[in-house]
Amino acid sequence: MQFKVSNANKLEGVINLPGDKSVTQRAMLLNSLANGKATISNHNTGSDALSMFNCLQNLGANLKKEINPDTNQELIHIIGTGLKGLTKPKTALNAENSGTTMRLLAGLLSGQPFDSILDGDSSLQNRPMKRIIEPLSIMGAQIHGAKNNTLPPISILGGNLKGIKYSPEVASAQVKSCLLIAGLFAEGKTELYDLKPSRDHTERMLKSMGANIEIRESNISIKSSTLQAKDILVPGDISAAAFWLVAGICHENANILIKNVGINPSRSAIIDVLQSMGANIKIINSNNKMVEPIADIQVISSQLKGITIQGKLIPEIIDEIPILALAGSCASGQTIIKDAQELKYKESDRIKSTVETLRTLGSDISATEDGMIINGPSQLYGNACDSLNDHRIAMLASISGLIAKGTTTINNFESVDVSYPQFRHTLEALLK
Ligand code: S3P
Repeated sequence: MQFKVSNANKLEGVINLPGDKSVTQRAMLLNSLANGKATISNHNTGSDALSMFNCLQNLGANLKKEINPDTNQELIHIIGTGLKGLTKPKTALNAENSGTTMRLLAGLLSGQPFDSILDGDSSLQNRPMKRIIEPLSIMGAQIHGAKNNTLPPISILGGNLKGIKYSPEVASAQVKSCLLIAGLFAEGKTELYDLKPSRDHTERMLKSMGANIEIRESNISIKSSTLQAKDILVPGDISAAAFWLVAGICHENANILIKNVGINPSRSAIIDVLQSMGANIKIINSNNKMVEPIADIQVISSQLKGITIQGKLIPEIIDEIPILALAGSCASGQTIIKDAQELKYKESDRIKSTVETLRTLGSDISATEDGMIINGPSQLYGNACDSLNDHRIAMLASISGLIAKGTTTINNFESVDVSYPQFRHTLEALLK
């Protein structure tokens, strides 16, 4: 499907975001393993979340969708099967495009006394799995991947896991979460040490459900635990909000209010980074009462300056780097992104796909081995782009189209459905 976006005169309005994708997937998985009933509301309705839903159902988990007649909002009801209630899937589990589904389920399946196969689409089949296969086999799973245990499909015969002491090489929430979930099924303690910072939704949710988990700065340990089902109101996805934040600061006539954004500190560094570029972003109405903190965010047109972004910050903004590169193109001076090799292993090689997209539109941007260098500001001009089957690249091209002169065409736009099916509608509602 093609989407055409023309330069906007004005961007104005109030945005309700899709629910956070990472929180949605964890809420479904952990509640399926819990004792009791839970309801998930404001969940993400994209195809990644649906992949998790379908795989869990295929494993015998009891999840049902229902429309709340009062609000017309979809809810997910889950009756937990407990840690031992899942059953051998009838077919291979298809995680489609979702790395989180594959890696978190690999941890869960390593704890099951039956064999299973995890597979995905052609993009996921090229994403690195050694990072989970290696530690899960040390824990005792019989787990094998294609190409010498490096890629999907993954076959797993689980059961009889033993806790390990392990320091993952990569700063990855998916690897950390995979091992914590496996740790729920292991004999003894699973200790992760020297963890580099990454999103902490799994630890927070496990703790709130009563897991036997200890969290101490860069060390986390977990023992087999009974989980209590927990209703989850999923916060708005800050990685989705980032597209509107950058639209607002780059456009010369913008005033946008984004409601109920999840501002978990392990996800909110994008706000600090944009503010240090000079972004006019204000956090209002923050609320810390739930498992995940939320706030409304106001954004208006801004004068931006280039900065260097590197080191420990990178894993905390990893999903926001494509749209951050647009902010770099609108900023005066040089924006340098370093230490971001992990971008190569996302839904597309996001160093290449981000640079290719913005360069097509006239940005002075070049790829480096571990990131990109952008010289700004550049006047962007509408052109034909392709999503490259990556939802975040489709959204980067669309937001760039609001700022570029003329019209931008995004081919294969449907990949936005992976995380943000409502994206087009929200964009069109902002045009004034
Ligand atoms: C995610 C973690 C991140 C992120 C992905 C979702 C998660 O990956 O890029 O979109 O839900 O745990 P890594 O932390 O593995 O890099």
